[in-house]
Amino acid sequence: MAIITLAAPAAAPDERVLRVRDGTEERIYPVAELVAAVGLSELTVPDDPLFGSHRTYAGFDLPALLRHIGLGGAPELLLVCADGYSIPFDAAAALKEPVRGLLALRDTAVPADSGRHWQPYRHGTEAISLDPFFLVWAPAKPGADVDLGPETLPWPYQLTEIRRFDRAAYFAPARPPDRTGPEVEHGFAIYQAHCGKCHQMRGVGGSVGPALDRAASASALSTPAQLGAYVRHERWLFPRSKMPAFSALLAPADIDAVVAYLKAMQTR
Ligand code: HEC
Repeated sequence: MAIITLAAPAAAPDERVLRVRDGTEERIYPVAELVAAVGLSELTVPDDPLFGSHRTYAGFDLPALLRHIGLGGAPELLLVCADGYSIPFDAAAALKEPVRGLLALRDTAVPADSGRHWQPYRHGTEAISLDPFFLVWAPAKPGADVDLGPETLPWPYQLTEIRRFDRAAYFAPARPPDRTGPEVEHGFAIYQAHCGKCHQMRGVGGSVGPALDRAASASALSTPAQLGAYVRHERWLFPRSKMPAFSALLAPADIDAVVAYLKAMQTR
């Protein structure tokens, strides 16, 4: 049998960058610089919400990365993704938990010379790459029973930017008008916790789905009962939607409250 020696392909330089916004200052960190400053770590994830169990990722240890980019002590961060997902992150609370976060650069099972960094992931109807970064979590002590689910910890992919963030200031433009009452106030809290990462209201929030106060929006045109049914988003009715099935995530009173908030925010 002939033995053929192939020259190792020259590794293409990693062009990915991490954007950081800290107040009015914007900084850009190339991957090579982060590798040199922070070093690479590996993390085996017991329960990856995208791909299932036991994937091992290579990337940057989250606390070390945050220290290097000047956001080590920031209590709240906003994680901004290429697809319009903008997720508020309570860093102070999450980093106190017995969890380890890794800003992943690649899945170690994907061959380095394949030109890819991840297994292909199907979101809605598209197959997408998770580039540039994917934030993943594992228990600090392997095997420990900690809640790593996407309702407790953020698992953003296509993460492009990390911002210093002040939740109250950020969501202030989306506050309901005065004297709308406690149900609408509760609905505003639900919007901030569950909807703002994908939907804008008064110009703040993510843009995976349409702005919830756009002209002729579903919120303006539907009755509260129809809107409640839509927000529950039963999986069998919307099998391919990027919007989660809130029937399984929110209590009926929370759905009613967010519907009351949406109704209160429609301009006549
Ligand atoms: C992960 C992203 C995501 C989250 C989180 C999310 N949505 Fe959506 N939403 C979408 C997308 C995408 C659509 C567009 C229709 C579709 O693809 O199902 C949508 C559509 C809508 C619509 C119809 C808008 C219109 O005018 O056509 C409403 C109303 C809505 N969402 C309300 C909510 C509420 C309320 C919450 C929080 C309880 C929420 N969504 C959370 C992604 C999201």
